[in-house]
Amino acid sequence: MRGGFAIGAFNTSNLEVTQAIVAAAESQAAPVIVQASEGALAYAGLEVLAGIVKTLAAGSAVPVVLHLDHGKSLDVIKQCIEAGFTSVMIDASSEDLAENITITSEVVRYAHERDVWVEAELGAMPGIEGLKEAEGKNKLDELLTAPEQVKKFVQGTEVDALAVSIGTIHGAFTGQEYIRFELLSAIEKAVPDLPLVLHGASGVATRQLKRAVMANVCKVNIDTEIRIVFEAAVKSYCSESHDKVDIRKMLTPAREAARRIVAEKIKIFGSAGRAIM
Ligand code: G3H
Ligand code: ZN
Repeated sequence: MRGGFAIGAFNTSNLEVTQAIVAAAESQAAPVIVQASEGALAYAGLEVLAGIVKTLAAGSAVPVVLHLDHGKSLDVIKQCIEAGFTSVMIDASSEDLAENITITSEVVRYAHERDVWVEAELGAMPGIEGLKEAEGKNKLDELLTAPEQVKKFVQGTEVDALAVSIGTIHGAFTGQEYIRFELLSAIEKAVPDLPLVLHGASGVATRQLKRAVMANVCKVNIDTEIRIVFEAAVKSYCSESHDKVDIRKMLTPAREAARRIVAEKIKIFGSAGRAIM
């Protein structure tokens, strides 16, 4: 927050994307957050994915930490902490304020006793389905974080970082997403010392991201843009003819495409050259 930059938090569910994230961070001398959702952990196996990240982190020239993204289940959160995650997100944003505070505080209590940081969410961010629904009801603005609730939430939970809904959407809705900077300022006024987290950053204009990280946004989440370039590279490989089937050759350009987009985002977030070991 003091340095006016943010650390990129990139989603993974497999070996290649994790390698791409760590390689990109190393190439930029940047600290990085590798994060996995509950779905990714179910896909790869919690211990397996944690093992991949921890092994690559241990051999890395830059600080790499492992974070649970959008945790909903206390059980999974406990398993992640047991497996060595250094921070977890509890996402109880679909609950009302009182219930969100109750659920989040329980996680904070449990995690802090084990030296693990907690990110929570206040306000909600729609995905594709949420957006359609919200558009239908013309209620997108109602999902935004209410600045008057922020102080109460943070004091009531003692979270370490807060994901705020300030106009971004999960998925890459290029050109449609814009950050409400007046709302961001109002939130910052309510909790001036709290690191904020920007979700749904795929598809958000570079200029807006640069402005957000100069403010109190200290962690920026990117998932969809990695998936898009990864898939495009696999499709392109598969559209050519090859003598024999080779999964390694198929995934090498995809891994490189993921590495390039992560490196690009790291530069935008201002964390290049910030690694301190
Ligand atoms: O929690 C993950 C993110 O908020 C990713 O959002 O898919 O729009 O990059 P994105
Ligand atoms: Zn998110």
